[in-house]
Amino acid sequence: MSGKYKAAIFDLDGVLVDTAKYHFLAWKELAESLNFEFTQKDNELLKGVSRMESLNILLHLGGLAFSDEEKEKIAREKNERYVEYISKIDESDLLPGTVALLEELQYREIKTAIGSASKNTPLIIERLGIKKYFGAISDGNIIKRAKPDPEVFIKAASMLSVLPGDCVVFEDARAGIQAAKNAGMYAVGVGKKEDLPGADEWIASLGELNTDKLF
Ligand code: BG6
Ligand code: MG
Repeated sequence: MSGKYKAAIFDLDGVLVDTAKYHFLAWKELAESLNFEFTQKDNELLKGVSRMESLNILLHLGGLAFSDEEKEKIAREKNERYVEYISKIDESDLLPGTVALLEELQYREIKTAIGSASKNTPLIIERLGIKKYFGAISDGNIIKRAKPDPEVFIKAASMLSVLPGDCVVFEDARAGIQAAKNAGMYAVGVGKKEDLPGADEWIASLGELNTDKLF
């Protein structure tokens, strides 16, 4: 059926832009400064997870415990390292199919929003020149509850003035797929089926999407 959904909500990191590698490098450097090793496999646990929750997971892996005040300081340090990386990104860091899909949705007058846990969303979309494609930005600066809570996506739908049931969410994280389903939205997993249980369909990248089927 064509014309089923009225809006598309995109997670940012790992869906539109390849920032997971920079999050990884920043966490790895931090772990090294605390004298333990942090691997790519460990990094999978942090996808879609908020900054402070990511730090809690990382410290757990390293068998370390800190006060809330110390954790605030460590999280700030990680973010400084991360911001240093992302302040150099450009269009070449966009994932395959991103611009073509955003152009097509704009042409078809499908509403679009970002739904991301990241507090760095404004900086990233500014650097990539993709702000113009979005009618709403729902991100870590305005939400209180992290994915899998549906807040970030419900807010995006409300900012676009559409009902949750009229939205398709694109997500690369397990918690993000759960958040989309908890919001009552159609969930497209960007990644492997085994990594993203509960999605309604899976694609390897945005370039693979059959838009006629959904919009
Ligand atoms: C998510 C990423 O999009 O944003 C996580 O997948 C990250 O890895 C989270 O921790 C929060 O990002 P930031 O930029 O606010 O530290
Ligand atoms: Mg993501």
